[in-house]
Amino acid sequence: MNGPDLDHHLAELRRLLALPRGRQPGALAGLRQRLPSPEVEPWNHSFGPGTLYEAWGRSTLMEGLYAANARTARGRLAERRGWVALEVGGGDGTLWARALPPDARGTLVLVDPLPEVHRRVAAALPPGVRLVSRVARIEEVAGELGEADLAVCSLSLHHVAGEDAARRAAAGLDGPGKAEVLAALHAALAPRDGLLVLNEADIYCDLELEPHDPVLVDRLLDSYVRRCARALADDIEGRNRVAADRDLRERWWAVIHRWCLDQVDAAERPAAERDVYELDVPRWLALLERAGFRVISRGFTDAYGLFCQYLCRP
Ligand SMILES: C[S@@+](CC[C@H](N)C(=O)[O-])C[C@H]1O[C@@H](n2cnc3c(N)ncnc32)[C@H](O)[C@@H]1O
Repeated sequence: MNGPDLDHHLAELRRLLALPRGRQPGALAGLRQRLPSPEVEPWNHSFGPGTLYEAWGRSTLMEGLYAANARTARGRLAERRGWVALEVGGGDGTLWARALPPDARGTLVLVDPLPEVHRRVAAALPPGVRLVSRVARIEEVAGELGEADLAVCSLSLHHVAGEDAARRAAAGLDGPGKAEVLAALHAALAPRDGLLVLNEADIYCDLELEPHDPVLVDRLLDSYVRRCARALADDIEGRNRVAADRDLRERWWAVIHRWCLDQVDAAERPAAERDVYELDVPRWLALLERAGFRVISRGFTDAYGLFCQYLCRP
């Protein structure tokens, strides 16, 4: 893509963001039709250097989240000898590359369904940290997590559909929902007086919202377009003062296009087949409390009010 094209697309996005909310879905459909459609890697499937995921990890939104999580994890693990940390959803291992000093010693149990994620996280760990790989979805292994001093669920629990098993059952799904997964994390952390770090977007779009519901469309827009795409557009235009060459700016645009603007298509899929089931802050707080956690602090890790970090004690 040449520079003028990128500038033009960004100007169109800015115009859309300035419209009244009710006119944005129509404007978004028009904008998406006008954009060229290059082949692009699917979300959350490739994690190495040069991928869109890596570009996403270098955005202002993720820099804020990683900085907050790395500070918390480093402080927590430094207090514990022979620590065990549990991570649900590892991405490319950036958190551990930032949190752990070269002489760290401990065990990281990683639950993630993708083998590539386990390879990336293994490569990010210092030599004294042992990786125990559970190649599975958290719903499949929630009852067998062992004990941990720290559990990190960063942008992963929104992949678990439904607030609890009963709501899943009502939608024709079996297995645990978010409440049961949180209860399992509580059971893993309680024996060691551990700490849960949860990061999630502040947006409600869980199972109850039916396909094509205008509320669902508006909430997907709120999360992925009004906040996420805006933050990435600010990165591209240098408003957040993150250093970026042309390649990175183009990958950020591809993230805006494919993972933000296109994400509203989730509103057309049957509820049980979406892959994002977010909750807003009051609902996360209620679920954490229900699982027995005490939220000792919470706050957004970015200036866009998108990703909230919850620190919780069992
Ligand atoms: C958006 S990435 C977040 C990665 C990392 N925690 C971060 O903050 O950058 C989501 C991760 O969760 C994993 N994931 C998706 N569904 C999951 C599930 N049901 N259980 C565990 N991990 C899951 C994905 O494979 C991916 O590694």
